[in-house]
Amino acid sequence: MGKDVIVACDFAGKKEVLEFLDKFGGKKPFVKIGMELYYAEGPDIVREIKARGHKIFLDLKLHDIPNTVKKSMSVLSRLDVDMCNLHASGTVAMMEAAIEGLTREDGSRPMLIAVTQLTSTSEERMKSDLLIDEPLDKVVMHYAKCAKVAGLDGVVCSPLEAEKVHEVCGNDFVTVTPGVRFADGDIGDQVRVTTPARAKEIGSDYIVVGRPITAAADPVAAYERCVSEFVD
Ligand code: C5P
Repeated sequence: MGKDVIVACDFAGKKEVLEFLDKFGGKKPFVKIGMELYYAEGPDIVREIKARGHKIFLDLKLHDIPNTVKKSMSVLSRLDVDMCNLHASGTVAMMEAAIEGLTREDGSRPMLIAVTQLTSTSEERMKSDLLIDEPLDKVVMHYAKCAKVAGLDGVVCSPLEAEKVHEVCGNDFVTVTPGVRFADGDIGDQVRVTTPARAKEIGSDYIVVGRPITAAADPVAAYERCVSEFVD
């Protein structure tokens, strides 16, 4: 499994995202398409970016009854995305159904990773709203183990949790980590951030980087800086 930088293309529409990707010329970064762009443009935006030669992480975070998730994953698999995700809180049965739906006739399938607890959920909220009394860290590691049991490839987590996830689930279990900022850059609304170089040391497999690249004066140079710190 190769380490890579995934560019979070959090744009409102097709025009904006394609103008952004045009700047990269012959370079084809791995891109993340999230709910905003997908709901605005539909599956055609995935086909179009894929046809331009990019790998795609489709970040739709599915969470429903196993049968619905299975059928929806089968649709996403036909879109030929490279990575997609779901909420581990949907249970092991839901995650197993997702794998079944994703697996193509030839046995191949996109990578499937799980969201454990969203980083926007505090331990306090987890207790009061979700009635989960365990420490947040323990819950995250338990959900990661459930994802592994269900046959998933890894989890989305904070780079600061990547080392522990690897200890608990093994080094082959993939960690995809947002919350990355350059040492000399703005952190924006992210709270627990790490530089690409530090994410590499901690053992993240993929970093997801949005605004430090998309809002940079020179996005291609910012992307290359991420690659040189994280991959090379
Ligand atoms: O612009 P920025 O680098 O903060 O973008 C990070 C991306 O990763 C966004 O698309 C955000 O929605 C996503 N993400 C995150 N934290 C999570 C899960 C996803 O920042 N826990």
